[in-house]
Amino acid sequence: MESSQLSERARGALPGGVSHELRYRAPHPIYIDRALGAEKWDVEGRRYIDFKMGSASQILGHNHPAIVDAVKEQASRALFTADCHRQEIEWAEWVNQLYPSAERTRFTASGSEATMLAIRLGRAFSGKDRVLRIDGHYHGWHDHVMKGAKPGNEQPTSLGVPAAVSDLIDLCDADPQALASALQDADIGTVILEASGANYGCVPLATDRLQALHDVARDAGVVLIFDEIITGFRWAPGGRQARDGIVPDLTTLAKVLTGGLPGGGVCGRADIMELMNNAESREGLSPPVSHKGTFNGSPLIAAAACAAMPLLATGEVQRRANDMAALMRDGMNETLVELDIEGLAYGDSSIFHLYFGRRDLQGMSAAEIRGLPAAQVKAYRDGMLSRGVDMMAYTSGLTSAAHTPELIGEALEAFRQTMADMRDKGLFP
Ligand SMILES: Cc1ncc(COP(=O)(O)O)c(C=O)c1O
Repeated sequence: MESSQLSERARGALPGGVSHELRYRAPHPIYIDRALGAEKWDVEGRRYIDFKMGSASQILGHNHPAIVDAVKEQASRALFTADCHRQEIEWAEWVNQLYPSAERTRFTASGSEATMLAIRLGRAFSGKDRVLRIDGHYHGWHDHVMKGAKPGNEQPTSLGVPAAVSDLIDLCDADPQALASALQDADIGTVILEASGANYGCVPLATDRLQALHDVARDAGVVLIFDEIITGFRWAPGGRQARDGIVPDLTTLAKVLTGGLPGGGVCGRADIMELMNNAESREGLSPPVSHKGTFNGSPLIAAAACAAMPLLATGEVQRRANDMAALMRDGMNETLVELDIEGLAYGDSSIFHLYFGRRDLQGMSAAEIRGLPAAQVKAYRDGMLSRGVDMMAYTSGLTSAAHTPELIGEALEAFRQTMADMRDKGLFP
């Protein structure tokens, strides 16, 4: 069945025809049949160069043989028994070794669950319900992180979030002075931020600024959480905190953490994490901070993660992915100059973003950077997709260790054609 027919059928079975609201695209989503390396093929056999890479989870490339073998091997022994097992220990030891903030690790079933747990731990440890987060930073879809998810807007990005929950969430810009002034309020006990800057660095967060935010939080004595769900294992084996030497109290991880399978985790200081200990502190009774979840640290996921960890720990995977993203950014900027289009390709690590209308982002707010006209964003994404290149979201993309200079060259040709087409259609006033 073709994508358009599948989409019609899906609308009768799934709300909006999708399982994640960002997967919808007009007139219909693409339906992927298989993937390998940095490429994927839809049900009509059309091939795409992939810069979404499983929403940033597949830094090793699709279907890496070490992961596939580990999953097959584990599946032949036990899919899931809801018991303790050897690999969860090995997996946590990898995290504790690689992440400077990690003395203990607890696994969850998704990234959103990781930020939900980290916020619960922050509240429990500080004894304070109020949490401060940074305007526009994304931490998943649960009630405690919906206010502020859209930059420049205090309204939660969903109906159904109780005002009583949103009232406990304070917002400020990624600015040390603004943070210092917000933290004058002694009722705030926890600060959470996206280690890359909003939306995987679409709104960049320079290292000296991250350091200054960290220092302000330290001075205020709050629990500081870095959300490294994107930056973890990508910006460096030990995430941004290891790369730049800026260490939080708690860290949330997912995506690459799990070898690209579903799941997540929180790691951090032992005195905070041990609030979840019921073996010693409460003689097997409920721990002070409760954390359950049927599929936490499940053996299938742990097997994939344990296979991924040695590959991720050397830094070679990240270096290859970074080089490919740098090629992409440089090529895009050359094309923009060549075609006389005002715009900028930018980004850190193995990520690239695109802004139209300016060649530097100095002094721009998160709301401005994320405020490109919808028609421009759609024309860009559709233009690339129609030329066989799939992007992550908005104007951003990610590379993996499986991208090659040849694939980047091909993608840059699609970019050149898309830009020329958009310019000819008057999309760059
Ligand atoms: C920085 C960040 N935090 C949290 C999440 C939520 O993770 P999940 O989608 O696994 O719930 C994401 C997902 O994209 C993310 O990028």
